[in-house]
Amino acid sequence: MNFLNEVASRFPAAISLAAGRPFDEFYAVTDVERYLACYVDYLRVQGMSEAEVRQAILQYGRTNGQLGMMIARMLEVDEDISVPEESIMVTSGCQEAMIIALRGLCAEPEDVVLAAEPCYVGFTGAARVLGVSVIPVPESAQGLSPETVARVAREVRASGRRPRALYVVSNFANPSGVSLSAGARRGLIEVAADQDLLILEDDPYGLFGSDDEHAPTLKSLDTDHRVLYLGSFAKSVFPGARVGFLVADQAVVSATGHRTLLAEELSTVKSMISVNTSPIAQAVIGGVLVSCGYSLRTANQEKISFYQRNMAALLAALARNFRDPAITWNSPSGGFFAVLNVPVRADEKLLELSARDYGVLWTPMSFFYQDGGGSHAIRLSCSALPAGQIDEGVRRVAALIAARS
Ligand SMILES: Cc1ncc(COP(=O)(O)O)c(C=O)c1O
Repeated sequence: MNFLNEVASRFPAAISLAAGRPFDEFYAVTDVERYLACYVDYLRVQGMSEAEVRQAILQYGRTNGQLGMMIARMLEVDEDISVPEESIMVTSGCQEAMIIALRGLCAEPEDVVLAAEPCYVGFTGAARVLGVSVIPVPESAQGLSPETVARVAREVRASGRRPRALYVVSNFANPSGVSLSAGARRGLIEVAADQDLLILEDDPYGLFGSDDEHAPTLKSLDTDHRVLYLGSFAKSVFPGARVGFLVADQAVVSATGHRTLLAEELSTVKSMISVNTSPIAQAVIGGVLVSCGYSLRTANQEKISFYQRNMAALLAALARNFRDPAITWNSPSGGFFAVLNVPVRADEKLLELSARDYGVLWTPMSFFYQDGGGSHAIRLSCSALPAGQIDEGVRRVAALIAARS
């Protein structure tokens, strides 16, 4: 990923089908002030004095944050997930939620996590920093199969290690764009119970699909408290807030012997990483949640349509520009990413050439595999560009591939 950033900085004029960030023009700096004021008003209406408001926004705060109730309402309204507010920890982005979950769950040397592969590099990178081994579970074009998860979990256990959890992006995964089928969702919940695994469900893109195809999150199917849900406001609000959350409603017995929820127990980890998530950033997100009646799905209608149009533009451009049946791609119905399979090695050398001679950037899929894999595939992102540029970007990728095949 550093290489990608470095190439992007050397060829700033290249069209980037690599950047997976949300579209800049949805944001205005004045939103920050407006939402902050909205949250402050809300606190006053709740009966807080000016001194209490000042303390809530500007002082050190509760480790697990102050938005638990609001996030619980949002999850109920948008995702049909019912969890107590005490099970929610507000984090500094979803990235911190991953680190806290990994640290909390994998305490012993034999503890490992399984992860659908290709895998988001933020997760594998976090595990590397913590010294936790990630065991890949290959994802097919249809998504992750519960049977494969069960097989890998058994193999890991037979080798003397303890599989603690499975990491999976349930909707429009980064990088593959693939979503779990309805059957696989139910199957994974069963496998988690059979194999005594937890599931780390990461879902930053679930909002960006069509309403008719909206599949239930694993967490909403989780009657047995097997799923930890990792949330992010980076795409549904804005990444600069750096606010995400962790839902961990598993009952545990604390070190001092009292019954509590895993989110509360994990606060000891969070307190040593970031003390608490910036209350100013929480206040901005709180203001967004209050002003949309706790439905980010409703608040994001314009963004949802934009990203859907962009994905349609990407898929249409692929169909127009690639006529050779040997070149294939998947067709996600939402999200930010699709994968193009090409008959040439899509490595760093080709990316450099692509940026220099063809003015287009993309991401080698090999970046998302631990030991080989993805050598002839590229990730195309459609989130950060207007549709017209997506079209031109794909035309340039096609020219590159035609010249190299
Ligand atoms: C699958 C996935 N999880 C988590 C994140 C990071 O979320 P945050 O910005 O809230 O840390 C991303 C960002 O691209 C992502 O693609």
